[in-house]
Amino acid sequence: MDPLYNIGKLGKVELKNRYLVAPMTRVSAETDGQANERMEKYYERYAEGGFGAIITEGIYLDKSYSQGYHNQPGITDVKQMEAWKPIVETVHQHGTKMIAQLMHAGSQAQGNRFTDETVAPSSIRPKGEQLPFYGGSGPYKEPKEITVNEIADVKKAFANAAILSKEAGFDGIEIHGANGYLLDQFLTDYLNHRQDQYGGSLENRLQFSLEIIEAVREAVGEDFMVGIRISQGKVADQEHKWPNGEKDAYTIFSMLGKTTLDYIHVTDGDGAAPSFGVGTKTMAKAAKDFSGLPVIANGGLGEPDKARKLINQGEADYISLGTSALANPDAPNRISNHMPLKEFNAKEILMPQAQIKDIELKE
Ligand SMILES: Cc1cc2nc3c(=O)[nH]c(=O)nc-3n(C[C@H](O)[C@H](O)[C@H](O)COP(=O)(O)O)c2cc1C
Repeated sequence: MDPLYNIGKLGKVELKNRYLVAPMTRVSAETDGQANERMEKYYERYAEGGFGAIITEGIYLDKSYSQGYHNQPGITDVKQMEAWKPIVETVHQHGTKMIAQLMHAGSQAQGNRFTDETVAPSSIRPKGEQLPFYGGSGPYKEPKEITVNEIADVKKAFANAAILSKEAGFDGIEIHGANGYLLDQFLTDYLNHRQDQYGGSLENRLQFSLEIIEAVREAVGEDFMVGIRISQGKVADQEHKWPNGEKDAYTIFSMLGKTTLDYIHVTDGDGAAPSFGVGTKTMAKAAKDFSGLPVIANGGLGEPDKARKLINQGEADYISLGTSALANPDAPNRISNHMPLKEFNAKEILMPQAQIKDIELKE
């Protein structure tokens, strides 16, 4: 039996195999953040293609600073929640589970219809430049330092968005703690110069994420799946590494392991390579060993032998596919039928999904 096709459990939710679609921003919602039929067709392709679960694109969660991109979907009120319902239902009809990724963009925000300002742990710009394929250009804005009261608001907003996700029918939520967005900004020494309980030691810099996990869990109850995504690299600083390597990984993952999380989703340039220098653990193995929680591994894992090895060696429990899923929405079905995967064509990501004709979506 191929371990990639073993049934598995994330929290109390059963997945028919070990393949998930990685979260991918597609900027194809309505301008007011409503999910739409185009997105339904987009997500249905993955469900038809045999994925055990789909993690949505990052969804914004309040009407202030969390939105990162124009045409990003939101889940901030009943109207936006209702718009997700048909999408989740359609995906469920194919026996595929669906997880909402809840995202606060922080200082990596480059398109927010509620405000021109951005917030971050400290008033420090992200490195790099805004993403042109999501309509940005030039350096990121200089963010405003988020206040303790605003931090409390963000916690409430995560909890509210989690409740709405549950109401929409999602099987779980994933807190976006990775890729240089707000929670990862708190974790990052060069972006967080705070003097309060949310700055200083690595433990303090993780505190905001821990409080969000707690707030979300309290809001949704113990039966609803709650995960977190963690990375070293950032949208605005792809090569970033934690300064104390595996030691930092130990601190972060062991603290996350003591929470009520159901899983940790890690992403790396190459999810099967040592993440902290020669002879060190992969991100997935570090997360698994140090947290004891189920782990989803991500990053260049389209090649089934590579993915299978991670699972066989006990380094990961699940595999998420990003670009190889974009190129092969039916990757799990293809792989189980020993069919080759199509190469990912970068042009596809440079084109917002809104511009792809429905007919192409049906291919
Ligand atoms: C178009 C695109 C959009 C993405 N948007 C998100 C996102 O919203 N949230 C997130 O956590 N990661 C996002 N990512 C990162 C992917 O989830 C994944 O980590 C990355 O593509 C590497 O995995 P892969 O080698 O399987 O493609 C995005 C990636 C791509 C290509």
